[in-house]
Order: sequence, then C-alpha cells, then structure tokens
Amino acid sequence: MKYWDRFQVPNRIQFVKFGDLNACEITTDVCTGRIFLHGAHVASYRPVNERDLLFTSQSSAFAPDRPIRGGVPICFPWFAANQNDPQAPAHGTARVSLWELQNVQLAEEHQSVAFTFGLALPPFRLLYEVEFGPALKIRLTVTNTSDQTQTFEVALHSYFSLSHVQQVEVLGLQKARFLDQLSGTLYPPVQRAIRFTQETDRIYYDTTDAIQIVDSGWGRCIQIEKFGSPSTVVWNPWIEKSQRMSDFGDNEWPHMCCVETAAIRQNQIELPPDESHTIGATHAVSHI
Ligand code: BG6
Repeated sequence: MKYWDRFQVPNRIQFVKFGDLNACEITTDVCTGRIFLHGAHVASYRPVNERDLLFTSQSSAFAPDRPIRGGVPICFPWFAANQNDPQAPAHGTARVSLWELQNVQLAEEHQSVAFTFGLALPPFRLLYEVEFGPALKIRLTVTNTSDQTQTFEVALHSYFSLSHVQQVEVLGLQKARFLDQLSGTLYPPVQRAIRFTQETDRIYYDTTDAIQIVDSGWGRCIQIEKFGSPSTVVWNPWIEKSQRMSDFGDNEWPHMCCVETAAIRQNQIELPPDESHTIGATHAVSHI
C-alpha cells in the first residue's frame, strides 16, 4: 500500500504504473486527465468529446531520472542549461524530482478534481495546485525559505497537441519583443500572429496577455490565461532537432508546439526571505 492510495476513488481517481513511474488517472463528468508524481507532471487533459489538449511523445522516457517529453514539465529553478554548472539537469531539478502528493479532492458535483503537491528544493519550497475540470488550471507557488534574497527562473513548459503546426496561429504575443534563441537576436514586436515555418525557439518578454492557439485543422482554439508570468516561450523543434532528440519521434514535430508560461532571463524572479511568488495558467478549449 502506497501513501497516496488513500486518495483513490473508484472509477474517478485511480493510481497506475506508467513505465517505471506512478501516475494518477482521473475521470470527472467533464474531462479525463493524468498526472505523475514524478515532476508533478500533468501529462493529459481531455475534455469530454474533445481531443487531448496536451501532447506527449510516443518516444518519451518514463523513468525516475529522466524528464517526460510532453504534457507540462515544471522548469525550476533555472531555465535551459544551468549557467554555473553544465552538468546540472537542463531546465532545473523540479521536473525530475519526486513530489509529495499532499491532497486530492473530487468536487461534490464530480465536475473537477484538484491536486496539491509539495516539494522542498532549498532554499525554496514549492506548492503546486492542479485542477482538472471544465478548464485545466495550474498554479505554482514558490517560497523563499532562506534568510537571503534569492532569484529563480520558472517555466510551466506546456506541450500542446496540434492537427498540424502549419495550420496553426498563435495570437497574443504581437505586442511583445522577443529573443530568438536560435540566433541570439532580440527583436522588437512584429505586430502579427505567429505562424510556424521553421524551427522556432523564442522567449517573449514583458508580456502578460492571454494567448490563443488557433488550430484551423481541428477547428479549435486553446486559450491560455496566465498570471505571475512576465515571459512566454514558444517552441517547435522542426525536422533536424527532432531527429537529434532521443525521446522525441522524428515525425512528431508537426503535431505539437510549446507555449510556456514563464518568468525567465530578464524576467527572472527576485524573492526576499519568506516571500512567495505564484505563477499559473488556465487552459480552456473552444470551437472555431
Ligand atoms: C524549450 C527551449 O523551452 O525547451 C528549447 O526553449 C528546448 O531550447 C526545449 O530545446 C526542450 O528542452 P528539453 O530540455 O526538454 O529538451
């Protein structure tokens, strides 16, 4: 018997093994979902009669020392490579840590299930709240438990499932300047929607606007409303980078893009002792 078995509710909240990892599968009246204890990683959110909003690679590892490729990895306390330690895991340690599942609550009307996870990563303490319901709501609270001001980067690195990336437009970032991570160039706002025509890896700065991923192939729009997040990352690996990634299929790039709710680089967070910062997003789908 595992400590989390007490949260089990027949046909609603069930714990399963997925590769070497433990996951929880939920079924509400309005959606299904899956979340792993490893990384507190949301891997699936599927409203009834809809396709999954989230993409997970068929080639993903499901192992304690590897991140899951897809869903919503939590990148913390640094983004990409660690500037001081090239051996440290890319995108920080949170996504490859085993989180403590503190609570699971099925709402009375069976419309939603809420999860609370905790993780101590000194000098920080993390609390992650996830609600699967009519929308997918995620919220990460970071507390500085030390007696000195600390800085950190964070990204809720959501992978969205797409009909085809070339049938998609991303709206909401037109007014933001961005760093093209491939060339290192900082661009002023371009005043038009993002369309994918090549490998794309951008950090948009100083933007809190809601984002729409308009997928004309599937006739749906994914709306992302975020808070506590001054940056947004947009990523698609395209053909060659897909081939270089061992945990990503060569032909999967057309069927995903990442739009990440973030606070990174110029927008990293500075946190005085005992203070907290909360970052989060609500993801919902509508028909177009
Ligand atoms: C994105 C970065 O956030 O994550 C990309 O902007 C990176 O540069 C991608 O390739 C995937 O990172 P990882 O560590 O999961 O392979």
